[in-house]
Amino acid sequence: MRFKIGLAVAGTFLAASIAVRLGAQAPPAPPATPAAAAGQGAGRGGRGRGGPATFPAQQRAAADPAIVARGKGIYEINCRACHGPDLRGGDQGGPNLLRSQVVLGDQDGELIAPIVHGARADKGMPAFTLSDDDVKAVATYIHDVLRSARGQGAPPPGPPVVLNIVVGNAQAGQAYFQSKCSACHSATGDLAGLASRIPDPVDLQNTWVAGGQGGRGRGRGAGAGAETPVTATVTLPSGQTVEGRLVRIDDFIVTIDPPNGLERTFERHGDLPKVEVHDPRAPHRDLLPTYTDKDIHDVTAYLVTLK
Ligand code: HEC
Ligand code: HEC
Repeated sequence: MRFKIGLAVAGTFLAASIAVRLGAQAPPAPPATPAAAAGQGAGRGGRGRGGPATFPAQQRAAADPAIVARGKGIYEINCRACHGPDLRGGDQGGPNLLRSQVVLGDQDGELIAPIVHGARADKGMPAFTLSDDDVKAVATYIHDVLRSARGQGAPPPGPPVVLNIVVGNAQAGQAYFQSKCSACHSATGDLAGLASRIPDPVDLQNTWVAGGQGGRGRGRGAGAGAETPVTATVTLPSGQTVEGRLVRIDDFIVTIDPPNGLERTFERHGDLPKVEVHDPRAPHRDLLPTYTDKDIHDVTAYLVTLK
């Protein structure tokens, strides 16, 4: 069983590293086991924020730090030149031990020991006269590196990088606002306190660019609160009209949720029945192509001051 999981994991690693090298996304292969599925996330940097390891072979209790330290010392002296300072392979041609089937399958040095003692001597892995204890210590060290290693593609260790998007000129943003937005909005009226309502500048920028939170806040009371919904008016051939929140529209049907709460769906045949959609955020979509990057930065820098 362990061997099978190991294989699945190795396959995932391989796919992930190929994807990284090609700079492309690997097509999502059906995971062989739930564990492999968890591993795929890790391969894409899924635990980049330093979360716990998700590969089965990496899920180990932390070892005795004294043994890890001793194993590291032995590794540095005997193995580092070939397997590298970070175990990912070194100048003298040793393979990556963090991607090694042997290491992934090893529990406590039992698979590593024969190799250290010369089982692969004909393939360039020299025989060492290390005691069983020393081999166990070095194995413990290797497993500890694997246990605490971060997923491929994960950001470098250290505090998470916080992207600062407030880089524009607030004054220029205010001037832009006066000329392009003030016909519909006011900084002291409907947008007063906007930055207190939406404190994260990224959310704030997405909100003003889109003209709302795209329904994300709906029903959850988040961010912008209740947005004016998209509505539609359907005029039937008889002249009767049905008006309400637009639930769905495509070439074949339109579904309306009138204020009385009884959803109604109408078939569409070309222009019949007549459908008028009222999307309060349509002006924002029309504005979108007119913004330069600088406009967006400046307006955001201004809007974050509307506390
Ligand atoms: C002179 C270079 C060299 C040194 C020093 C060296 N290795 Fe290796 N090691 C290799 C090579 C080359 C292979 C690949 C052998 C093969 O193709 O089967 C290897 C393979 C291995 C493997 C098996 C990897 C796999 O997935 O097949 C393990 C485990 C390993 N070495 C551990 C160690 C440890 C532990 C040390 C230090 C005690 C060490 N090696 C020192 C060159 C070296
Ligand atoms: C033609 C009118 C019009 C113009 C021009 C316009 N908006 Fe809007 N804006 C709207 C409407 C309508 C909504 C949606 C209000 C709703 O959902 O109730 C909206 C929504 C927003 C929201 C979300 C409000 C909230 O409370 O969450 C922000 C922020 C916003 N606009 C900022 C801007 C900025 C900045 C500009 C100028 C670059 C701009 N708008 C230009 C009409 C306009």
